[in-house]
Amino acid sequence: MERKPRVETGIAGLDKMLSGGFIPGSANLLRGAPGTGKTLLSLQFLVHGAAVGEPGLLISFEEFPQSLQLDALSLGWDLRTLQDQGWLHLYFTSPQVLLKSLETPDSPLAELFIQKGIKRVVVDSVTHFTRLTNDQQELRSIYHKLVNAFKREGATSVLLAEEGRMEAQRTERGHLSFVVDTIIILRYVEIESAIQRAIAVMKMRGSDHVKDIRRYEIHKGGIVVTSTFEGRESILSGISHRVSR
Ligand SMILES: Nc1ncnc2c1ncn2[C@@H]1O[C@H](COP(=O)(O)OP(=O)(O)O)[C@@H](O)[C@H]1O
Ligand SMILES: [Mg+2]
Repeated sequence: MERKPRVETGIAGLDKMLSGGFIPGSANLLRGAPGTGKTLLSLQFLVHGAAVGEPGLLISFEEFPQSLQLDALSLGWDLRTLQDQGWLHLYFTSPQVLLKSLETPDSPLAELFIQKGIKRVVVDSVTHFTRLTNDQQELRSIYHKLVNAFKREGATSVLLAEEGRMEAQRTERGHLSFVVDTIIILRYVEIESAIQRAIAVMKMRGSDHVKDIRRYEIHKGGIVVTSTFEGRESILSGISHRVSR
C-alpha cells in the first residue's frame, strides 16, 4: 500500500521532528504561552501550503486580518497577495459563530471549504472555547465537533492553544489532548539568565517522531528549529539545570 505524502509545515527542522510533516487530514495541537510564536508558526504552515498548491484558511478569534498581515510582513510574508490569488483566506469570527457554521452544511464557511478547496486550516485559538461552557463533557464534544468537521473536509488542521503557568501542570479541561492526533509544545526556557525558545513533539498518533527537545528561533523568513539542549535536564519544567558529569 502506498502511503500518502506528509503535509510539510515548511519549517525544515520541525518537519524532520515529525518524520516528514503532519499526516494528511490530521488534527494537530500547538500549545504555548503568549509570545512563543504559535500564530507565526501557523502562518508559516499556511504560507508554505500556498507555495505547494494547498489553499489555506486561518480562523481567528484574536487578531484582525490587518494586524495578522502586518505581523506576517515583518517576517517577509505577503498575506495580502496570497489572499488576492486565492491561496489564503482569513476569517475573523467568534467561537459561537464558528460552531454554528460547522453545524450548517450551507454556511459561508462550509462553502469556503468546498469552493476554495481548503487543505490547511488553523484555529487561533481553541482556548476561547473553554469560555463557552463549564461542563467538561460539553467542551469535549465541542472539540470533537471542530476536529471532525475539518477531517470531513479532508483538511489538515493546526489548533493553537494558550498555555499559562497553571495549564502546564493541571489536567486540561475537555481533554483536548485526547481529541487531537499530534501535540507540539513551545516553551520559553531560561538558561544562564537568557531566554531561549524550546520546541518538542509530545505525541504523534500513527507515526514515529523525534523525542528531542530542540531550540528554535524566530527570524525574518520564518521559524528555524536548531540544536538540542545538550547537557541540560528538565528543560520543559522551566527549571533547567546543567547535567553534572
Ligand atoms: N520580525 C520578527 N523577528 C523576530 N521575532 C519576531 C518578529 N516578529 C515577531 N517576533 C516574535 O514572535 C513572537 C510573537 O509570536 P506570535 O506568533 O504572535 O506568538 P503567540 O501567537 O504564541 O502569542 C514574539 O516573541 C516576537 O518577539
Ligand atoms: Mg497568537
